[in-house]
Formats: sequence, structure tokens, C-alpha cells
Amino acid sequence: MSAPIVSLPLPLPRRWGEAELARLTAMVEQRSLFYWKGPQTEALYTEFRKHYPLKYLFPCSSGSAALHIAVGALRLKPGDEVIVSPITDMGSVIGILYQQGVPVFTDLDPRTYNMDPEHIRRAITPKTRAIMAVHLAGNACDMTSINAIAKEHNLVVIEDCAQSWGARHQGTPVGLMGDIGCYSFNDFKHVSCGDGGMVGTNREDLGAGLSKWGDKCYDRVTGTRDPAELAPNYRMSEPLAAVAAAQLTKLEEIVARRVHNGTRLTEQLADIPGVLPPVTRPGDTHSYWFYLLRLDLSKLRLSRAEFAEALKAQGAAASPGYIPMAVYQYQVFRNHNFFGGTWPARLLGATTMDYTKVSCPVAEAILNDCMVFPLNEAMTDDYIDQVAAAVRHVARQSAA
Ligand SMILES: Cc1ncc(COP(=O)(O)O)c(C=O)c1O
Repeated sequence: MSAPIVSLPLPLPRRWGEAELARLTAMVEQRSLFYWKGPQTEALYTEFRKHYPLKYLFPCSSGSAALHIAVGALRLKPGDEVIVSPITDMGSVIGILYQQGVPVFTDLDPRTYNMDPEHIRRAITPKTRAIMAVHLAGNACDMTSINAIAKEHNLVVIEDCAQSWGARHQGTPVGLMGDIGCYSFNDFKHVSCGDGGMVGTNREDLGAGLSKWGDKCYDRVTGTRDPAELAPNYRMSEPLAAVAAAQLTKLEEIVARRVHNGTRLTEQLADIPGVLPPVTRPGDTHSYWFYLLRLDLSKLRLSRAEFAEALKAQGAAASPGYIPMAVYQYQVFRNHNFFGGTWPARLLGATTMDYTKVSCPVAEAILNDCMVFPLNEAMTDDYIDQVAAAVRHVARQSAA
């Protein structure tokens, strides 16, 4: 048997080091680790704003928390609808459901894997309040079209940037084009503090009270404790802010390497029959949280699982598939099992949504034929070239 095409070991970056240590060392001298006016939290604001100059910010415990806070700020009525992608993390929809809102799943563009503006337009009803634009895998949504639709229908745009640190639409960083931007610092993201998130906006009406939606509806400015509404505690404490602030000093470098590596892989995978690399719209920047391509199985003799096995034999790390099914197909949605086996919004007649009837054929097709390749900032050109050569080899061998 010949040697595998990918002879180099999977490169892994060193993620935490001197910068994090310096902040944590300063932190242990503090008398308090509470976020309000905490020096690490202040540093996090400063570092974050270098990339995302948003006026109102609230650092929180996760990306899911950031999205829940964003939805909280909308003050939904039971049954109000938020349009969202069916290929995403549960974190996109958890907050909508907890606020008694209704996630409305719309279909995707087959090559960018992001929400198709025409489908968004068709999903709008009198109950629609917001569009949650999920920038999948590091590829920016078509924010120009999404914002135009939102303006036409007076909708709020929440950007789910959890997977897309450093991504841009027509030069503008994601999270700055909609009304509210939400980010994740979880362990797997471009930059991380283990678990954490950030929510931000420039809109005064949403931003002036933003922190209360993640801080029990307490008013830290006046110190008054008479919460007017119900809100969870999603605060981020100083140790996590210290790590997150240090991580952001490396963001530009991390993103530049990932853009380079992802672009290089895409260039090399062009024109391989049976292989469909992701498409980035001209003028946009894909920041490659991971590398998601599709197989045209009609042009291949191998199944997707066999293709992945053949790649593995050539030393390439690749997984057959991303999430196992569209989010609306998860049992929690199939069974409308949101609160103790029930869905109050539906029981009380605030919505007639039936998730067993939802169908997004493009999203389902993507999930049936996609493959995920790891991509990171430590990968060298040689490594990327070897992975591309392995894909080319397996595709040629299995051409129908
Ligand atoms: C698109 C998307 N949205 C939201 C989240 C939730 O982020 P977190 O895990 O920090 O709660 C994730 C996490 O993977 C995600 O990928």
C-alpha cells in the first residue's frame, strides 16, 4: 500500500499563552471579580471595539446567552415570529423559545449555506418581528438584501456571528450591519475564553438597557432594584473577560491565516468533478471557522461515508456531515416539547406553527451531502495542499 497523501500531522494552534497570563495575573490582584466596572471587562470592551465599534455592549456567559439577550431586548409577545436558519446551533433558537416566540425556519442558498433572502421574504407574516441572520461556518449572509427586506417590513435584524469572527460582508464586519450583533467565545470558536459571549448594538432604543436583559433586569447605573420585567442572569465574570480580552488581541492574525488557508483550499478544489467547494460572494470575506463543502453524489460512485473513509485512508481529517438533521427535525421541535412536554404559545393559541410540517429541501440536501474539514490558523500551505491533493485523488478514483 502506498503512503497516504497527507503525510503531515494535523496542525494544531497553541491558543492561550503570555497575553492571557498577563491579564489573569493582573486580575488576581483585584478585590472583586464582578463585571460591573471591572478592569478586565473594561479591557474586553476596548479590545472588542477595535474590531466591532458598537456603542452598547454586554459581555455574557455564552453565544446562546447573547442571542437570548438580543431577543429579550425585542420584548416579544407570545407567538411573535423570528425568521432563522435551519442549519445552526440550538443556541440561535433557545432564547426565542424561552421568550415565547416562534422560530420560523427558512431555506438556504445551496452554495453559501446561508439564508436565501427570497425565502425570508416569503416567510414574513404580520407576526414577524425579527430576522436572525446566521453567518454559517464563517461565511457572511447577504446582509444588503436582508437589511433591505427588514427595512421594508419594519423588522429587527439580529446577526448570529458565533461562527464568523472576522467575516465581512462587502467590507463591513459581521455584527455591525444588522440591529444587534451576537458573538460566542465558546471553546471551539476562533477566539475563546472557554465559554462566553458578547451582544452589542448601536441602536439607543435597544442598547440603553441592554445589560438588564442579561442581568436580572437590575439597573446597575442607578443601583435600583425593582425589576420591571423578567430576565435571566447571563453575566460574564472577570476571569473570563480577562481571557477574552487577551484573545481579541490575536483575532486579526488568526482570521488572516484562516482566510488564507480557506481561500487556498477553495482554489485548489475548484474544477474537481463531484466536489463543490463553498461559495463566498464577491466582495465578502469568509473567515472559515470550519470548511464545509458539498459532494455531488450523482458524479461519484462512493457514498459520502465511503468518501470520508477513503479520505481518512489518505490521512485527511474530514467528517461526513455537519449537524445530523435540520434544527426543526430535532425531537424537541418534532414533539413541540419546549416546556414540560407542552408548548404554551401553541396551547394558548398564540401560534399555529407545526414543526412536523416544516420543510427546507435545500438545507436538508446540504446536510445529506456535505462534508466538514477542520481548518485553523496553524495550517501551513503544504498541509492545505496535501488535503486538496487527497480530495482530488479520492474524487478521481470514485468518479462515476
Ligand atoms: C451559529 C451558532 N449560534 C449560536 C451558538 C451558541 O454559542 P454558545 O455555544 O457560546 O452558546 C453557536 C455555538 O456553536 C453557533 O455555532
